[in-house]
Amino acid sequence: MNRTRVRQALEAESGMDHMTLCGWVRTKRDAKGFSFLELNDGSCLKNIQVIIDEGIPGFETLPDINTGASVKVEGSLVESPGKGQKWEVRAQSIELIGFADPETFPLQKKRHSDEFLRTIAHLRPRTNKYGAITRIRSELSYAIHTYFRDKDFFYIHSPVITGSDCEGAGEMFTVSGFDFDNIPMQEGKVDFSQDFFGKRASLTVSGQLSAENMATALGDVYTFGPTFRAENSNTPRHAAEFWMLEPEMAFADLNDDMDLGEECTKYLINHVREHCRDDLEIFGRFVDKSLFATLDNIVDNDFVRLPYGEAIEILKKAKAKFEYPVEFGLDLQTEHERYLTEKHFKKPVAVYDYPKEIKAFYMRLNDDNRTVAAVDILVPRIGELIGGSQREERLDVLDMRIKELGLNMDEYWWYRDLRHFGTVPHAGFGMGFERLLMLITGVSNIRDVISFPRTVNHLEF
Ligand code: 4AD
Ligand code: MG
Repeated sequence: MNRTRVRQALEAESGMDHMTLCGWVRTKRDAKGFSFLELNDGSCLKNIQVIIDEGIPGFETLPDINTGASVKVEGSLVESPGKGQKWEVRAQSIELIGFADPETFPLQKKRHSDEFLRTIAHLRPRTNKYGAITRIRSELSYAIHTYFRDKDFFYIHSPVITGSDCEGAGEMFTVSGFDFDNIPMQEGKVDFSQDFFGKRASLTVSGQLSAENMATALGDVYTFGPTFRAENSNTPRHAAEFWMLEPEMAFADLNDDMDLGEECTKYLINHVREHCRDDLEIFGRFVDKSLFATLDNIVDNDFVRLPYGEAIEILKKAKAKFEYPVEFGLDLQTEHERYLTEKHFKKPVAVYDYPKEIKAFYMRLNDDNRTVAAVDILVPRIGELIGGSQREERLDVLDMRIKELGLNMDEYWWYRDLRHFGTVPHAGFGMGFERLLMLITGVSNIRDVISFPRTVNHLEF
């Protein structure tokens, strides 16, 4: 159908004698001899006002055209005498496409809680807030590709089904070809030899190993796709399925990695501020009043770069009462990360050189033999946005780490081969896409920045 989108109509340079608009009715008001409809078609935050004069074709269906109904309007685009809008539509005909029963349609004109809207995840994109998040999410995805293409990175596709545990943290979802009613057992245990064509397989926790593989051939690459974690943590920042952006650079070290993480974060924030003004506005108004100040602060300042050891010292001296202990050798918890970024430095902090015991096998061992060239970029309100490292490019050291951690050497034969033939220093990171969206919109729960969240208790829709 040759239809005009509401956004195009609202941004038109001049009026139009005839156009077709399709969308969903947000509200209807009756006046003497005509009615007003506020129509939204998802193309932008704003509705367009439609005037339905008595007697036009379809006017008799108006009693059935209520909030939530879908309609097709033919009409002209004319200047609006109303305040705050340049254009409105004078309908020549209206057609009710899909009825929505006002007794049962759940999105009536009032504010609904996020909790309630999660129970109707299939209808929530029709609200202002979730429509806006979805459009911002889309724009941000394009921005990632623009940014990396401009920097001559290649976009690579890493597999979703994998045989190796990138993080070695045992948080993999098993992929099973089993018939649930007939799981093959052997001596009381599941017989995995009949699983993925005779092998154990899982959903990927990270595309990093593939990205490293490709970086050691193409130079600079990135992957951007869904990743999965079987961690049963019911927090506002963890999902079982989330998207991760993972750049990987050859001939690069930890400083290059931190530079890229900082530049990329700032670019993406600036891009959304520039391209999603209307949509972002409602978050600054209704979700977090200090949102724009927080974002300004991030893009206008250099990120702090702080060795892990110094971070521990700062946290030990802090007056704040922490729930979790602070000790060299223990991982930082969200409360510590937020203290550093919100209270102490009041800006993003890149904490680097973590003790090797709390980081993954592939991170490059530092000369002190007890820390690795890892970096976590922490941001206000979220905590960890980015986790990355310079990778271990020395085969003997890598083998030592694989053994130390009790991992299966055979599984990593191809990864080790990359160190055997033409090894290079290289570095990369993973940025949680939903966490970036939370940062940019001020939304405090990860379940509200992804259309169909996969978390504990969320598998419907
Ligand atoms: O720190 P993580 O676990 O690092 C990796 O997976 C590396 N292999 C990435 C790399 O170097 N290529 O995860 C990276 C980021 C975190 O900083 C966080 O933002 C996000 O992914 N993240 C999650 N986001 C939502 N839900 C979860 N369960 C997440 N786990 C990690
Ligand atoms: Mg991490």
